[in-house]
Amino acid sequence: MSYTVYVPADSAALSVGAESVAQALTREAATRGAQVRVVRNGSRGLFWLEPLVEVATPRGRVAYGPVTAEDVPSLFEANFLEGGAHRLHLGLTEDIAYLQRQERHTFARVGITDPLSLEDYAAHGGWNGLKNALELAGKDIVENLIESGLRGRGGAAFPAGIKWRTALAATAEQKYIACNADEGDSGTYSDRMIMEGDPFVLIEGMTIAAIAVGATRGYIYLRSEYPHAEHVLNQAIAKASAGGFLGNDVLGSGKAFHLEVRRGAGAYICGEETAMLESLEGKRGMVRFKPPLPAIEGLFGKPTVINNVITFASVPIIFDKGHAHYRDFGMGRSRGTLPFQLAGNIKHGGLVEKAFGLTLRELLYDYGGGSASGRPIRAVQVGGPLGAFLPESQFDTPLDYEAFAKLGAMIGHGGVVAFDDTVDMARMARYAMEFCSIESCGKCTPCRIGSTRGVEVVERIMRGEQREGNITLLRDLCETMIDGSLCAMGGMTPFPVLSALNHFPEDFGIKAASKPAKAA
Ligand SMILES: Cc1cc2nc3c(=O)[nH]c(=O)nc-3n(C[C@H](O)[C@H](O)[C@H](O)COP(=O)(O)O)c2cc1C
Ligand code: SF4
Repeated sequence: MSYTVYVPADSAALSVGAESVAQALTREAATRGAQVRVVRNGSRGLFWLEPLVEVATPRGRVAYGPVTAEDVPSLFEANFLEGGAHRLHLGLTEDIAYLQRQERHTFARVGITDPLSLEDYAAHGGWNGLKNALELAGKDIVENLIESGLRGRGGAAFPAGIKWRTALAATAEQKYIACNADEGDSGTYSDRMIMEGDPFVLIEGMTIAAIAVGATRGYIYLRSEYPHAEHVLNQAIAKASAGGFLGNDVLGSGKAFHLEVRRGAGAYICGEETAMLESLEGKRGMVRFKPPLPAIEGLFGKPTVINNVITFASVPIIFDKGHAHYRDFGMGRSRGTLPFQLAGNIKHGGLVEKAFGLTLRELLYDYGGGSASGRPIRAVQVGGPLGAFLPESQFDTPLDYEAFAKLGAMIGHGGVVAFDDTVDMARMARYAMEFCSIESCGKCTPCRIGSTRGVEVVERIMRGEQREGNITLLRDLCETMIDGSLCAMGGMTPFPVLSALNHFPEDFGIKAASKPAKAA
C-alpha cells in the first residue's frame, strides 16, 4: 500500500521546521518499509499549525499539526498514514473551521496541489481560463474583466479592466506585462504564498493579460527577500514554456508571450509602480511623474500593464467560471474576494480569503481568535505602513474599499496587523514618520524633508515639549505632505500619524484631538 503525505515547502512552514519534518518522514518511512510519497505543497495559511502535515485517506485529507521532526516516530506509531488518532490530529483538513468558513477562489489550489506539477494544475481547473480567453478578441477579454469588477489588489484598487483597455488601445510595436511582486507592506504575504504555492495561476493570469493587450514580454518584479518564491517561479516558468503555455506559440494560438523573473532592489519605494519600472530598467528606484500613465508609456517607454500578483492570480478563475460568478461575491464596488492576511499580536495568524463585506471584528475574532497575548486588541493597522490605525470603535466597519476610504483608512493589499493594549500609539506615529524618512525616494520635498521633521516633532510631543504648539505643527506638516507629495509614500504617511493622534490622544499626553484632521 502506498501513501501520499503533504508537507508544505512554503517559506512560513520552512521557517518553523517543515524541511526537517519532511526529511524525518522520509527516513522513518524507509526504516519501517512504508511506501510514502512526500509531496511538498503550498501552505494552507493556518500559520499557528505549521508545519501542517496532511495524509491522503479515502475519507479525504487528514491533518496533523504543528508537527516537529521529533513527533514523526509517534505519528507512525499512531498509524497516521491511515488517519489514526494522535495528540496533533486535527481531523479532516477541509473541516477545520478556519478553512471551512473561507471563500477560496484565488487560493483555490494553494495547499492542495503540488505547486510545480503541470498535471496537478490542469487536474484542478488550471489553464481553463487561458483556453477560454484565447477564443476571445482582446477587446472582449477586456470587457469581461471590466464586468467582473476586479480592482487592483496591490493597494490603489484601480479597476484592472480599465487599465488593460488603455494598454490595448495604445499602438506600439512592443508592449509589456509587469507583475508587481515587491510585496513590501508590513504583515503581508499573500503574493508570496501564491508564488510559492500555485505559481502557474500567476503565469496563467499574466498570459491572459498579454493575449488581451497584445504584449509579448512579461516580467515579475520579485521582492529580493523571497528566494524560495524565486526558485519556484523560475522552475514553473521553465515547465510552462516546455508545456507550450508560454513561448512563441501559446497553446498553438500563434501568439507569443515570454516571461522572466527580475529580483527587486530591496527598497519599499520600488513597489510603487513607476519606481518599479525604473528599477526594472536597471536604474535607481525613483518615482516618475504621471502622466504619462504606464499603460501608455511604461517600461522602456512602451505600453505596460502593471498589476499586483493577486490581481493577475484572480484573472484565471474569472475566465474559467465567468465574470458574473466572480462578481457575485463582495459588496458595493468591492467585488470578488480578497486574501486577507492576519499578522501582529494575533492568536491565529494566517491567510483568510473571503468576499468583501465581512467586518474587521469578524476577521480579528472569528478567524484570528483575538490577540496572541490574551489582552484586548486596542488598534489595528490595515493596508500596510501607510494605512490608518483603527480603534476598537471602528472594528465593525465592513471590509469594503469605499467604507474604509470614508474613515480615511484603506484596505490596500489586505494586510491586517493587530496591537494589544500595551501599544504606545505615539511611538507608532513616530515610527510611521521614520519609516517614510528611511524609504523616501527623495524626489520631492514634503516627503524627503517632511518625514525627517515629522520624527523630530513627534519626539518633542512625546517629551512633553510645547505639546499644543507641536501638535498644531504636526497637523500642518501632515497637511503639507498630503497635498504636496508626488506619490502615496509621502501623501499617505500622515494617515497612520493622524489616526494615532485622533483616536489615541492620551498616548500623546492630551485629552482629545486638538483639531479635526483632514485624513483619518
Ligand atoms: C510606496 C508604495 C509602495 C507600493 N508597494 C507595492 C507593492 O509592494 N506591491 C504592489 O503590488 N503594489 C505596490 N504599490 C502600488 C503600486 O504603485 C501599483 O498601484 C500597483 O502595483 C498596481 O497594481 P494593481 O492595480 O494590480 O494593484 C505601492 C505603492 C506605493 C505608493
Ligand atoms: S512622495 Fe516620497 S517617495 Fe514619493 S516621489 Fe516624493 S519623495 Fe519620492
